Amino acid sequence: MRILITGGAGFIGSNFVHYMLDKYPDDEFVVLDKLTYAGRMENLQDVMDKITFIKGDICNREDVKKAEDCDIIFNLAAETHVDRSIIDAGVFVRTDVLGTYTLLEYARKHDVEKYIQISTDEVYGSIEKGSFKEDDILNPSSPYSASKAGADLLVRAYYKTYGLPVLITRSSNNFGPYQYPEKLIPALILNALHDKPLPIYGKGKNVRDWIYVLDNCEGLDFVFQKGETGEIYNIGAENEKTNIEIANLILKELNKSKNLIKFVEDRKGHDFRYSLDCGKIKKLGWNPRYKFEDSLRETIRWYVENEGWWRDR
Ligand SMILES: NC(=O)c1ccc[n+]([C@@H]2O[C@H](COP(=O)([O-])OP(=O)(O)OC[C@H]3O[C@@H](n4cnc5c(N)ncnc54)[C@H](O)[C@@H]3O)[C@@H](O)[C@H]2O)c1
Repeated sequence: MRILITGGAGFIGSNFVHYMLDKYPDDEFVVLDKLTYAGRMENLQDVMDKITFIKGDICNREDVKKAEDCDIIFNLAAETHVDRSIIDAGVFVRTDVLGTYTLLEYARKHDVEKYIQISTDEVYGSIEKGSFKEDDILNPSSPYSASKAGADLLVRAYYKTYGLPVLITRSSNNFGPYQYPEKLIPALILNALHDKPLPIYGKGKNVRDWIYVLDNCEGLDFVFQKGETGEIYNIGAENEKTNIEIANLILKELNKSKNLIKFVEDRKGHDFRYSLDCGKIKKLGWNPRYKFEDSLRETIRWYVENEGWWRDR
């Protein structure tokens, strides 16, 4: 099988490429990545001889064509940072919506066996109590989540209109090695390491469900292998933490003072809480395997030991 992974040089993408190469050594892997600020060749350095790497844009049909005849597509390429989307939404609409359209067209022309869209819990918007199921309405709050929701709808439309064999995953907040330092957990780790203030939006009460990236990779694989065509699967670890709890855990682990925490003006349109009901993917046999405290410790260790990776970012 020839498997295309877009966005494979990014955070989840590079972890997923490694996961898939280990699990399916006899398959062929093609990675298509534009190498934006968030994507780095060095994330794939140790496996370059095992993959075909294409530097290209998912919005550009000629670039996508270079993947040749792929049987499976995992689309992880996206603009992903909410704060950047508030400053400049255009690139999010372009990559997340137009890029998805370009890949869907490729998938249709090449009769792919499966097209798997990697989406996010943010498309549901915020929820005070309870948890979102896959058929709940989409109610995104930021240009990032709105463009991801647009992509999800397009993917569904290609299933209904053309019978394209699609699947969608919506995962909660991932953390782990190779995550660009603008995201909450690596940003807090690096600031704490440098004794710099840890900026926390509002009062730090916003809640996110955190999942270790390798649990998400396994979830993507479960959906690929066992998911039903046309369906959506939430992937979360049922591990909800406030931002202030995360900051305190990191400070404790690094033996730093809580006085480093600095509350800053809240993000515009900041969702209060994300929460996923993951009963559907659990019925496929998937369960998160990594304990939060252990994998957070492992992630901190990775950043401490890989200064060369983050120093100039
Ligand atoms: N990180 C999370 O917590 C999280 C949670 C839920 C869903 N997701 C989704 O998972 C996917 C991967 O997220 P991530 O955190 O690894 O993102 P990331 O920002 O770390 O990586 C994105 C990758 O996509 C590439 N890319 C961007 N624009 C491109 C384009 N036009 N053409 C080709 N490549 C392009 C970048 O170079 C980078 O390698 C995204 O679709 C994101 O919406 C992420």
